[in-house]
Amino acid sequence: MTGIQPKETLRLKGIEMSNLPSLPNAYLLIEEGKIKSYGPDTECPFERADQIIDCSGKIVLPSFCDSHTHLVFAAWRANEFVDRIKGMTYEEIANKGGGILNSALKLQEVDEDILFEEAKERLSEVISLGTGAIEIKSGYGLTVESELKMLRVIRRLKELNWIPVKSTFLGAHAVPTKYKNNRKEYIRLIIEEMLPVVRDQGLADYMDVFCDKGFYTVEETDQLLDAGTKYGLKAKIHANELDYSGGIQVGIKHKAVSVDHLEYTGPEEIKALTSSDTIAGILPSTAFFLGLPYAPARKMIESGLCISLASDFNPGTSPSGNMAFILSLACIKMKMTPEEAINAATINGAAAIELSINYGSITNSKSANLLITKPVSNIDFLPYSYGHSWIDKVIVGGKLS
Ligand code: NIG
Ligand code: FE
Repeated sequence: MTGIQPKETLRLKGIEMSNLPSLPNAYLLIEEGKIKSYGPDTECPFERADQIIDCSGKIVLPSFCDSHTHLVFAAWRANEFVDRIKGMTYEEIANKGGGILNSALKLQEVDEDILFEEAKERLSEVISLGTGAIEIKSGYGLTVESELKMLRVIRRLKELNWIPVKSTFLGAHAVPTKYKNNRKEYIRLIIEEMLPVVRDQGLADYMDVFCDKGFYTVEETDQLLDAGTKYGLKAKIHANELDYSGGIQVGIKHKAVSVDHLEYTGPEEIKALTSSDTIAGILPSTAFFLGLPYAPARKMIESGLCISLASDFNPGTSPSGNMAFILSLACIKMKMTPEEAINAATINGAAAIELSINYGSITNSKSANLLITKPVSNIDFLPYSYGHSWIDKVIVGGKLS
């Protein structure tokens, strides 16, 4: 088994990320949904159990904690995929009213129950792919009514109690066409008409802003995050996906739990992150899918940063929530080692949604959200064998799922 951590380890930084403690030939005892104990199988303290799973030749590891997704949406966007194949850029598509605005138009029309049923199916799919905790954002509503509709759907997903779900309010994902020449009015709407309801109805854990070229400026992000703080929402933002936007620095200023994307991260941004507790949230499938440069993960690790890896599952820039593929991309494209990638997708992913007290590692008394691989030689095989389904079984809350 691997991914074992002492109780006090809630995140790993820099070279600590290369340490993925393992125990060969081990037993692991689950009781009432939690990890009761583990150790060498020769020291196994029980002779009987309600259920015994033989994991000979296999590896047991903590489930993935996917700390950045847009899993609630109304329609896929394969048409834009083809537009990009034919040469249009993501920004050109967005400027033409495609992209996020296209998703918003579709979502505004969809019935809440249908939105829920479709998202529920996607959640079930990613759980079968090994995700054991997840963050889900709004941001495809872009009207008071539709942003709240999305957040209610996320709440219903939470209430399924399948896996822990953290909810992020992303009203500032794009500026709706109607407000193109009056951005201030849309920002006012977010601050004065969305945020109070989000707070009163307890609909979100975090506040997100897409701080990037063509979306929200640093000044607007600053104003929005200030308002979020006033309404009790911690920051967790999209930054530096399309340019050196200043998003990383404004996120740090607001003590963001994480700043995510980071394709455009230079020495200044890394320096700012080094002197903060903000996690560097990397989403390599977006760089893969859009053909962007990858975030400089090696430089970040060498500078001692805490990196999390997430799927960014969404219909426009990452139409997959398969975290096993994220591990492969991290290793192949960003030269992270398998140990670093697994830590970034488990314990650090849990830290990026403030769940690492209970999730993200094999630790006594943590929730038993675990993966069992098919027979494999060692953990290197997992990111190496991209595209293969190497997960044999998924355990959620101590139960085979
Ligand atoms: O994380 N960057 C902003 N938001 C999403 C994509 C949104 C979309 O194109 O639908 C992302 O990549
Ligand atoms: Fe995103």
